[in-house]
Amino acid sequence: MIKGFSKLTKEAKIEWLIANYFNGEEKAREVLVSYWHSDEKLQKLHDEFIENTVSNFYMPMGIAPNFLINGKEYAVPMVTEESSVVAAAAKSANFWADKGGFKATVKSTTKIGHVHFLWKGDNTDDLTSFIAGIVPKFYTESNSITANMRKRGGGILAIELVDKTADIPYYYQLEAEFETCDSMGANFINSCLEKFADVLKSEIANASLPVNEVEVVMCILSNYTPKCRVKVEVSCPIAQMVEGTDMSPQAFAERFTTAVRIAETQPYRAVTHNKGIMNGIDSVILATGNDFRAIEASAHAYASKDGRYSSLTHADMSDGQFKFWIEVPLALGTVGGITGLHPMVKFAHQMMGNPSAAELMMISAAVGLAQNFSALRSLTTTGIQQGHMKMHLLNILNQLEATEEEKAMIVRFFIKNTPHHAEVVSAFQRVRGGEVIA
Ligand code: MEV
Repeated sequence: MIKGFSKLTKEAKIEWLIANYFNGEEKAREVLVSYWHSDEKLQKLHDEFIENTVSNFYMPMGIAPNFLINGKEYAVPMVTEESSVVAAAAKSANFWADKGGFKATVKSTTKIGHVHFLWKGDNTDDLTSFIAGIVPKFYTESNSITANMRKRGGGILAIELVDKTADIPYYYQLEAEFETCDSMGANFINSCLEKFADVLKSEIANASLPVNEVEVVMCILSNYTPKCRVKVEVSCPIAQMVEGTDMSPQAFAERFTTAVRIAETQPYRAVTHNKGIMNGIDSVILATGNDFRAIEASAHAYASKDGRYSSLTHADMSDGQFKFWIEVPLALGTVGGITGLHPMVKFAHQMMGNPSAAELMMISAAVGLAQNFSALRSLTTTGIQQGHMKMHLLNILNQLEATEEEKAMIVRFFIKNTPHHAEVVSAFQRVRGGEVIA
């Protein structure tokens, strides 16, 4: 155990780590130092993003080009460690680009937050009419917090009392809705809520109510944002559902649609299905400096909105048309947070033409839909391993410390076959032993 770790210098923190967890081995220090940025100013920026920074943790950024969304072409930045994710998104983007691309609509960007409090009176109606009377005060007292947001067209949209005493005795919520424009808005929402709590406490203290005291338990935004939602759709004549195996377009579309039905009705499958969608969405969220934990939490809560965990995507075949769509909550920001600070995040936004938050919602959901299309296309035809293992092949070869020449020969060898791990190792051993494989 150590006390005051955060107060040590970066060097002293590393010293302590090496001594305590690496038997004093210099190699461990070298790994950390090798990932420091050579530009000291830039390194300091990263050091100050979080506490106790000792180094940087690199993740690859890949690009999925040719995303046609509402008639506009995007090259989308994706940050992920999973080998097949970018290739899958790019493949789908190409497939849909000459079929009209992705059609996206943002349902709303409304976010929500709560003051959770206890009021020990007997008659909820007393509290309801009292709160209705002080709602304007919540707005006026938070004027200084909301001024900038109001200038940008946002602010507080609604405030109401919600009776939750059926769940927990004496428990009520002040539920507020917010428009936070191009910012994710967490700080704005939480500041407003804390102000509402102050107003509530002071107003109730002077009220002529049987109980004129509340206990505020907490004030916090909700990361469940079902209203802040986007829909993205692709469609084409069934005859165009050509996918490269000897399956007919009709048979492929039918099997694909059945796979979606399975995810809609079977939670075990839905979790994996949605995980694949989030492979795409999270990669864009990371590249654009957004909060992937919030996005994940909200997406999965939304997937359970009807009482059973289900698919975020849906498919339909009617009148000779195949239709595939996603509806997902995405509370994103394109200003604030690290969006204006992290050079790679700035690069990502610039590459997409500095999108608004709503536009970024559409891009991210389109990538999620594309990702799911690719996964289901493989799953319902060749199986997932063919593509997956091909993309993973370089990871295996890098682990075996294959040379560039060995890699090139082995990659060529596996063009026609699925490279399972044991077969790759055997091919590597043969090549290392001097054999030419073809
Ligand atoms: C792997 O990361 C994602 C998939 O399992 C998604 C799916 O099964 O739909 C391929």
